Amino acid sequence: MSGPRSLLGIADLPADAIGRILSTAEGFGSVMDRDIKKVPTLRGRTVVNLFLEPSTRTSTSFELAAKRLSADVVGIKGAGTSMDKGETLKDTILTLEAYDPDVFVIRHPQVGACALAGRYTDAAVVNAGDGTGEHPTQALLDLYTVQREIGPVAGLHVAFVGDVLHSRVARSGIQGFRRMGARVSVIAPPTLVPRHLGTGLGAEVSADIRDISDADIVYVLRMQLERMGNGGFVPSLEEYARMYQVNHARLRPGQRVMHAGPVNRGVEISGALVDDPGSLIEAQAANGLVVRMAVLYDVLAEAAADGSAVREAA
Ligand code: CP
Repeated sequence: MSGPRSLLGIADLPADAIGRILSTAEGFGSVMDRDIKKVPTLRGRTVVNLFLEPSTRTSTSFELAAKRLSADVVGIKGAGTSMDKGETLKDTILTLEAYDPDVFVIRHPQVGACALAGRYTDAAVVNAGDGTGEHPTQALLDLYTVQREIGPVAGLHVAFVGDVLHSRVARSGIQGFRRMGARVSVIAPPTLVPRHLGTGLGAEVSADIRDISDADIVYVLRMQLERMGNGGFVPSLEEYARMYQVNHARLRPGQRVMHAGPVNRGVEISGALVDDPGSLIEAQAANGLVVRMAVLYDVLAEAAADGSAVREAA
């Protein structure tokens, strides 16, 4: 194994690679329980976090992950860069190349931006969300959360509910859960489901919210108002909430609820359900740290070649 590898989408990860990353995350989890939470695993490595679209969870956890692994970290956010002056993504990557980064973690509003960036650098590129494309590290932390909080993913039924059309979380999540052996369905108004979703990603599709009764996990998707332009996808948010909001009245005992965040309380999910200690939303956010540590470790393939760095760290 040599040289860095990128993580652009779930297609890059066969089931054994997902298993390897989740097990590395477990190892880092035990490190995070110590008083001193920093390990020397990526000392001397440079991680550039280039976030050109808003983020709280992903940007914070990637920055903290790199720091906990002792890497040098540079954080660049949308406003205030030379991209405001018209510099292209290509030229930004070529400029940052001068500082010899090992990993670019990139969030960008355009689908395919991370793959494009990868053409102009020898560093690994990690997709931290590209428009409506993919969000592979979200899928990994979701799998990790289910494994820890519920048990093996294989055989579970996961229902994604809501705005699948604009959701990179769903696109990566459907693939990730299917690859690990879950049954996946999608429940949404037909206007918010991409054409060919069922045939393309192998999810069952329904427009009837009552079909969530069959699921072990109800994964609520944010209504991505910022991607809806002049609207027309639903009659109104009130009507959407009336027809599709996930709330206590629509769940049966024992069902677990996930949401990648940020949430629109009272729209796709009730505030009471967000605050319910049984929901997995807080665990998802917390688990982002160790899973992103594992991803940074994994893409730097030479260091991961024999697993010794994690064993030493643990
Ligand atoms: N789930 C997620 O990607 O959240 P942020 O947009 O806050 O990073």
